[in-house]
Amino acid sequence: MLERYNELIDLINKASYEYYVLDMPTITDQEYDDYYNELLSIETKYPELKREDSPTNRVGGKVLDKFEKVTHKTPMLSFDDIFNEEEIEAFDERIRKIVPSPTYTVEPKMDGLSGSLIYEKGILKRGATRGDGVVGENITENIKTIKSIPLKLTKEIDIEVRGEIYMSKASFNKANAERSRNGEALFANPRNAAAGSVRQLDSRIAASRNLDFMAYFIPNPETYGLKTQSDSLKFLKELGFVTNYKLNSHAHNVKEINEHIEYLSSIRQSLPYEIDGVVLKVDNLKDEEKLGFTARVPRWGIAYKFPAVEVLTVLKEIKFTVGRTGKITPNALFFPVHVAGSLISKATLHNEDYCLEKDVRVGDTISIRKAGDVIPEVVEVKKERRDKELEPFKMIDSCPMCNTALIKKDANHYCPNNKCPARNIEKLVHFVSRNAMNIDGFGDRIIEDFYNMGFLRKFEDFYKLEINKETLMNLEGFGEKSINNLLEAIENSKSNSLERLIFALGIRYVGAKTAKIISKHFKSMEAFMNSTYEELVVIDDVGEKIAASIVSYFENEDNKLEINRLKELGLNMNYLDNNNSNTLEGKTFVLTGTLPTLTRDEAKEMIEASGGNVSSSVSKKTDYIVLGENPGSKYDKGKELGITMLNEEEFKNLFE
Ligand code: IVH
Repeated sequence: MLERYNELIDLINKASYEYYVLDMPTITDQEYDDYYNELLSIETKYPELKREDSPTNRVGGKVLDKFEKVTHKTPMLSFDDIFNEEEIEAFDERIRKIVPSPTYTVEPKMDGLSGSLIYEKGILKRGATRGDGVVGENITENIKTIKSIPLKLTKEIDIEVRGEIYMSKASFNKANAERSRNGEALFANPRNAAAGSVRQLDSRIAASRNLDFMAYFIPNPETYGLKTQSDSLKFLKELGFVTNYKLNSHAHNVKEINEHIEYLSSIRQSLPYEIDGVVLKVDNLKDEEKLGFTARVPRWGIAYKFPAVEVLTVLKEIKFTVGRTGKITPNALFFPVHVAGSLISKATLHNEDYCLEKDVRVGDTISIRKAGDVIPEVVEVKKERRDKELEPFKMIDSCPMCNTALIKKDANHYCPNNKCPARNIEKLVHFVSRNAMNIDGFGDRIIEDFYNMGFLRKFEDFYKLEINKETLMNLEGFGEKSINNLLEAIENSKSNSLERLIFALGIRYVGAKTAKIISKHFKSMEAFMNSTYEELVVIDDVGEKIAASIVSYFENEDNKLEINRLKELGLNMNYLDNNNSNTLEGKTFVLTGTLPTLTRDEAKEMIEASGGNVSSSVSKKTDYIVLGENPGSKYDKGKELGITMLNEEEFKNLFE
């Protein structure tokens, strides 16, 4: 029996390898299924036999409560990003100062997320995300469901393998088609889909997403007698991994590098997966050693990102939305288009002036841009394509939600109705947000639904949701587990330090940083509520405008009553000095370029809430530059001064 069991595992693993890694199946689906079912029936009968590398581990099944944190044996670094030819030349020049005639490997930059796999004696023991590079999350259960990852290597060695976890275009389209059928929100791009899938606590969901893995790096390669990066890739292939050996190439100078980049960019569309650039690495490992690392990144490699792509589409509608402060924003809704790997169908048009300046009209052909992973933007209106009369843009004069007449302040229009449902929903969304009460699990949709169903109207209603637990659990799309998680997150938020609550109230002009200063100053909500304009205005960072706004907020009895009710419901109303959210105390940040998911205001709030400062210009005093797409001259200046640059992911990691 044991013999047959072992034989079946070998047969199935070999068949999977041939199918998923070599792309050369040798047995039929029927044969595969027969072996698999036979194996399964042995394991059901004799569970004690089950081996760690049994292919039955791939279907998932374990549901975790949370992901365990794991510390990487060697930090998982990433490369600096560059965006143009001059920067490639500068990279090559830097290299040549230390390695006069380098050979580079030029590899497609897979657009997924990096993962680390640990094998002991050839058996897969642990899979982890990169996390902040030092500490990641243990995602072994989900990793095992990725069919192109061998559960057992061809050699019985101890090794760590790094590579990209990604979702192919085909799996992405399939997943989105299914989500669309189920009325679920679509994944924005394959990278998000892959990242969301490996972070599923239920490994069956991860298994259903059909992820892939491309191996590209071995830490400490000399342990295995490897002399070059190309050797590493060859070795990975021998061990049973998928590598990009057909597309990886060598270059000896900038001209050759550019030729490969041009080639990869020309076939990009036809590849079965997304790539967002090209990774350049010095091939010889001895040379890599000579080049070493800066404080943050290896000097021996760099990531070149493809330039922004513009795509044409047609403007279907201009939809006006109402924010928490009542600000009205026109949004362009257009026919969905794939731009740099994401399916986009809307972009902000900011305000009336912006629309008039661009002269956007429903029916216009517009060009949409999204450099790599940036927020979509309407670049221009193709007026030459306007072949019929189109209605010029006209700003609305009443609120699209409550019909109240709008008022105009500077460039923006506002709905002045405090009771406007749209404004209230946005206030509730703000209340639970990351820098406010940080209640995990409440997407905008849930809040809107709960609002419309009458469960949530005021802040205090979050803390009364428990009463409706039974009803909520039975709502479509919710189950006991998700409602329990929500309720637990709500309960936990009661013990937040005061500054979170002050920020969550959404008092005009009181951002996260001001909330922190106020909270530190007054120590309790009561003292804050009873403060006078004179007391407020002398506090560092609280100017006349903020002081006046706070006073007017507390002049409204309803606001005071709501805070008192929150107190009765058990929310902490004091400043807790022991919360270590001051991790960025004294650090100065400069933000430049457009970040993929965060707005500038959000990034600023995050920094300030942790005690840091945001400055508008780069100087020697700058500690970090947060780099978005199209960063401009601040990037050059920062490079000149040797300032640490962070991309959005690295920036977010500072807060984990
Ligand atoms: S090598 C020290 N090779 O792009 C970094 N990375 O900064 C070693 N990536 O976050 C990584 N394709 O997730 C390497 N062929 C490739 C890659 C690649 C994609 C990702 C990786 C990393 C970023 C580079």
